[in-house]
Amino acid sequence: MGVDNSSNLVVDGSWVLIAMDSRKRWVVRVRKGGRFVCDRGYIDFDEIIGLEYGSRIRFSSGAEAYIYRPTLIDFIDRVFTRRSQIIYPKDAAYIVVNLGLRSGMRVLEVGVGSGAMASYLANAVMPGGRVYSYEVRDDMVSVASRNLELLGLLEYVVIKNRDAAEGVDERDLDAAFVDIGDPWRVVDPVYEALKPASVAGFFIPTVNQVDRLVRFLWDHGGWGDVRVVELLERGYDVRENAIRPSTRMVGHTGYIVFARKRLRM
Ligand SMILES: C[S@@+](CC[C@H](N)C(=O)[O-])C[C@H]1O[C@@H](n2cnc3c(N)ncnc32)[C@H](O)[C@@H]1O
Repeated sequence: MGVDNSSNLVVDGSWVLIAMDSRKRWVVRVRKGGRFVCDRGYIDFDEIIGLEYGSRIRFSSGAEAYIYRPTLIDFIDRVFTRRSQIIYPKDAAYIVVNLGLRSGMRVLEVGVGSGAMASYLANAVMPGGRVYSYEVRDDMVSVASRNLELLGLLEYVVIKNRDAAEGVDERDLDAAFVDIGDPWRVVDPVYEALKPASVAGFFIPTVNQVDRLVRFLWDHGGWGDVRVVELLERGYDVRENAIRPSTRMVGHTGYIVFARKRLRM
């Protein structure tokens, strides 16, 4: 399942993004004999099965839409169960690049939440790599596991229902990502788990937390190259002769702190 449908044709059980316009978009799983209903009418899945992705479809009302293969972001936006704040794609992409992730790597994650960032991490290190995700809340472990399973990524993520501040089992990991409210509590276990020179990324929503974390990293003595970044994303409305910035935007998601493990001399 999930995003790994490499066939060009929609088959029974395929996931499909139905896109009518920039707002009316749905990710659905097509099933023989089933039907998709929305405020613009309905379409029987049997009319979609056998079509190529990219085809135009027509609803009972005459409204037209196109069918596409959903990306990871489409799944996270429209199918994921969200029980926590999740990492936005703009931040996730920047984090993945700055952690230097590639296929085969082993990564630590603290705070799996709904599993959105775990999905991006797993997608980057699969098939040979692994994500080791620590999560204190058992309800979040269940939600994240279900979401990852849906995407076909659960096999690349080892979720541990534990407080990472009490210790991390893994050693010689290639990178770490932390998304919890009190990241200074896990700085020591993260340090112990990483290979020298590996990068750790921390996502935090307030300036006060950034100040506290950065001071903690400096005082720790085992971290160098400490950087703080905030990313702003502005979408555009795209209409003929009227391409302009959208009136509304997400004003703030969080700050990202990066640091590299250095040897204590
Ligand atoms: C904001 S959510 C993470 C969201 C996640 N990054 C995503 O994209 O879906 C933070 C999670 O960290 C967990 N958490 C907080 N402190 C923790 C700790 N010390 N060890 C493990 N998990 C922790 C919380 O239970 C919560 O589920």
